[in-house]
Amino acid sequence: MIPEHLTLEQCLRQCFVPAKKSKRKLFIGIIRKEKGLGGVRYIRRLLHKSHMLNKVKRLVDTAFLKKDPKKSLKHFERTIYWAQQLNPDADEAVLIAAYAHDIARAFAKEDAEFWNGKELNDADYLDSHQKESARMIVEFLEKEGYDKEKIKRVEHMVRYHEVGGSPESDLIKDADSISYLEVNAPKHVEKFGRMFGKEKTKTKFDFMFNRISSEKAKKVAEPMYKKVVEMLEES
Ligand SMILES: [Fe+2]
Ligand SMILES: [Fe+2]
Repeated sequence: MIPEHLTLEQCLRQCFVPAKKSKRKLFIGIIRKEKGLGGVRYIRRLLHKSHMLNKVKRLVDTAFLKKDPKKSLKHFERTIYWAQQLNPDADEAVLIAAYAHDIARAFAKEDAEFWNGKELNDADYLDSHQKESARMIVEFLEKEGYDKEKIKRVEHMVRYHEVGGSPESDLIKDADSISYLEVNAPKHVEKFGRMFGKEKTKTKFDFMFNRISSEKAKKVAEPMYKKVVEMLEES
């Protein structure tokens, strides 16, 4: 069944991309039923639209899994999910930026030694991370011959996803924060707690929560933030 808060198109965008055959079939059936004879053309258009996002997903997944075959890719999926929740009109450029925003991390060595003497929200590090991620995804999209205007938007969103500053970069930043607090932070309680200590770990949680711009995103993130801080205190 289609969740009530999502439109058909949003459902398709979400469901075509993880692309389980059974899910695809189900949604194609629903669209055919709802759109009648025009259904097939409609589906084809949507599939075409989600084409580049699929390529970007493959690029990101391959890069991260090459670095660590056990790496969970859930953070990127949930960043897409939250971007769509925060802005139901989010188009493919937004979804690409949401999925690829951390791509430079797949090529970076960020172990305990790297972080030694550095804050987890070190401004210089964050700036070079978002800059490098933007460079990588732009290079890929240009090679793929993607729409120039959309490339510009993706570049901007990824380039400023850590700090925001415009409606679109704020959207990626807020979705990234919620996804982080939801997916990564519970794991970081133990991992970062052991590597860096509670105090340094909490600065990361604080940073990810405090940088959120929209009230809607803050409302969603607050219970997640409180929960991980509590987990950290009790650990
Ligand atoms: Fe990032
Ligand atoms: Fe992220």
